[in-house]
Amino acid sequence: MTESDLNGLIDQHDDFRSLNDLTVQIVELTTELSAPIQKISGLIASDEKLLSQMLSVINAPFNRFSDTIPNIEQAVNLIGYRKICGLAAAIALLRQFQFQDDGEYDVREHWEYGLHVAVTGAELASRMKGELQVEAFAIGLLQDMGTLLIARCLPISYGKALGLSEARDLHISQAEKELLKISHADAGAILCQRWKLHPTIVDAVRFHHFPETGDAKTESERPLVQLSSLSNTAADVLLSAHPDDARELLYDRAEQFFGLGPNVIDEILDKVPELVLKLAPPMDVVVRDPEAASEEVPHLSVCPNCGSEAAGSGKFCSECGQALLSEDAAKALSTEKILIAEDSAATRLALSILIRRLGFTPVEAYSGVEAVQLAEKERPGLLSSWTSTCPV
Ligand SMILES: [Fe+2]
Repeated sequence: MTESDLNGLIDQHDDFRSLNDLTVQIVELTTELSAPIQKISGLIASDEKLLSQMLSVINAPFNRFSDTIPNIEQAVNLIGYRKICGLAAAIALLRQFQFQDDGEYDVREHWEYGLHVAVTGAELASRMKGELQVEAFAIGLLQDMGTLLIARCLPISYGKALGLSEARDLHISQAEKELLKISHADAGAILCQRWKLHPTIVDAVRFHHFPETGDAKTESERPLVQLSSLSNTAADVLLSAHPDDARELLYDRAEQFFGLGPNVIDEILDKVPELVLKLAPPMDVVVRDPEAASEEVPHLSVCPNCGSEAAGSGKFCSECGQALLSEDAAKALSTEKILIAEDSAATRLALSILIRRLGFTPVEAYSGVEAVQLAEKERPGLLSSWTSTCPV
C-alpha cells in the first residue's frame, strides 16, 4: 500500500477524512502562533468537557506545579501556546475516536494503552530537562492512531498482521509491512500530517517504535521522538502479557537516550498505574481491572474460520485474520442470521419475511459496501444476494 493508496482509504472513511469542527479549529490554532491567548482559551472554554479534561492533565503531578492552575490563560503562560494547543488537539482527537467497539478490534483497549503511553511519557519527561511533559502526553495519546485507522478500515488485514506477528514472533510493524507494505506508525504519521498536526507530532508518531531510523530529526525534536518510543515500550511492560523482553529494551533505551537508570524506570513504572487510574475518568477511558485482566479468555487452537491449526498462538489467525478468542469465536458466525444484499426494497422485504418464517433472523444491506460492513459486524452464517447489479 502506497501513501496515495492510504490517502484513498482515508477518503473513503468519514471518521478519519474529516475532523469535527472544534478539532479542526484547535488544530488550526496549533500552527497560528500569532493568535491571541484568548482565542485558544475561549475555544477550549466553549466546551466544558474539554476544559475539564485539559485542566486534569495540566494539574497532574507530572507537571509539578505547586498550585492548581485554574484556567487555560494561566496554563498557556506557564507551559506555552504551542504545547497547550497540541494537548487540546490530542484530547479532541481522543474524543472523536472513542467510538463504540463494532468489530474485533478493542477500542477500549486501544485508549487504555494510549493513556498508559501518555502518562508514562509525561512521567519520563518530568525527570528530564526541557519541560516536555505536555507534549509527551499528547504524542502518547496519538502515536497509535495508525493502528486505529488500519484496524477499522482494513480489519481482516489487520487481524492477519497481528496473527502473523504472533505466529512468527515478528514486531507488529514488520508484519504490517509484510502484508500491507505500510506500518501503523507510517499510517499514523500520514494521518497526522493530513490533519495538519505539528511536524514534531508527525515525526514522533512515525518513529515511535524505531526512533533510531528517524535520525534526520533536529536536536530539539529528537528527545520527543525518543520519549515517544520509550513510553511505548514502558506501556508494553505494564500491559503486555510477556513484559520481560520489553523491560530489557526499556532499560537499555532509557540509559542510552536519557541516561536514566533502572531504578528511576522502576519508580516510574510503579507510579504510572495510579496516575492512569486518576486520569482515566475525566478522559472517559475505561481501565481494565487488573484482577479481571489476569483471567484472560483462552485462545482457540484451531481457527474457526479457515481451520488453520498453526493459528492458535495469538489473538488472531495469521492465515485469515479471524479473532481466536473463544468468546469472539463463539460469535464468529451466527447460524441464525442471514444477510440479504439487495438494492430493491421490495425484494429485501419479501426475503426478510420469508427468512423470518423459516425461523432465521434477516440482516438487510442495501449495497455491497453495506453488506461487507454488516458481515463484519453481525457475522451472518449465510449471504443471500440475488442480483449481480447490487451497487458497491
Ligand atoms: Fe505502535
